[in-house]
Amino acid sequence: MRLQTALRQGSEILASAGIPEPRLTAEVLLCHALRRERAWLYAHPEHELTTVEWIHYGRYLHERLQGRPVQYITRKQEFYGREFEVTPAVLIPRPETEHVVEQALKAARGARRVLDICTGSGNLAVTLALELGAAAVGTDISFAALEVARRNARRHGARVEWVQCDLASGLSGRFDLIVSNPPYIPLEEIARLQREVRDYEPRLALEGGPGGAAFYPRIVREAERLLAPGGWLIVEIGYQGEQAARCAFGPAWTDAATEYDLAGWPRVVRARFAP
Ligand SMILES: C[S@@+](CC[C@H](N)C(=O)[O-])C[C@H]1O[C@@H](n2cnc3c(N)ncnc32)[C@H](O)[C@@H]1O
Repeated sequence: MRLQTALRQGSEILASAGIPEPRLTAEVLLCHALRRERAWLYAHPEHELTTVEWIHYGRYLHERLQGRPVQYITRKQEFYGREFEVTPAVLIPRPETEHVVEQALKAARGARRVLDICTGSGNLAVTLALELGAAAVGTDISFAALEVARRNARRHGARVEWVQCDLASGLSGRFDLIVSNPPYIPLEEIARLQREVRDYEPRLALEGGPGGAAFYPRIVREAERLLAPGGWLIVEIGYQGEQAARCAFGPAWTDAATEYDLAGWPRVVRARFAP
């Protein structure tokens, strides 16, 4: 079968199953099957798929039709201009989380020691280590997630130490900047999530307890133990999470502020430690 035909048929199958962005999805899956970039597809519409390429493409289409997110099929996702490996052990990094990076670069340009609590694929720890030229530590309770994070740091040449622990319980020392994108989906909303998220992304990465607020007070307590005076804590929040996150900061904090994402939702809360 010719590439052009494979793409058309793949898009039609995906569209009829109600998969969003069927043409783009078919292109990405075909690229993955061919181990080629998208530009190559456009330059070779007459390419005849080999049997192996066809089998791979068919399998990827089938997986997507079952609900598996594209990123878990291709095992990659871009974040802040870099490609990160993702596996089902980690949350797929979201573009909204780039707001955490932007706030960190604005508030804490001079940070030399950075901690990322709940690191997942390591997207925040690796990005901040590279953008700030800092030494970073990333923690996660999941050993499988840390294995992915470790590979991402190696791939990008970032200086990050990985620690498996509950939040930051295994750590001591002083940090200039702490970031976290903790699980924050309210327990009561988990069942109503899109199937791509609910059935494929790790529950451990999603569920933030009743109201989605369970992690913030604990993260603030850890930050009070580990931040140098004047250091920043920057956390991502869900669309309903602003109040819970802001309430977690007590009198030892100053300059608390909420930043909004491009859709206008509160997305990031930051505050400076002033004991
Ligand atoms: C929302 S994901 C964030 C992943 C990544 N930082 C990102 O921005 O895409 C939350 C991560 O927290 C981890 N996690 C959940 N409970 C934890 C805990 N008690 N201590 C440390 N990490 C935890 C999960 O394994 C998951 O990797």
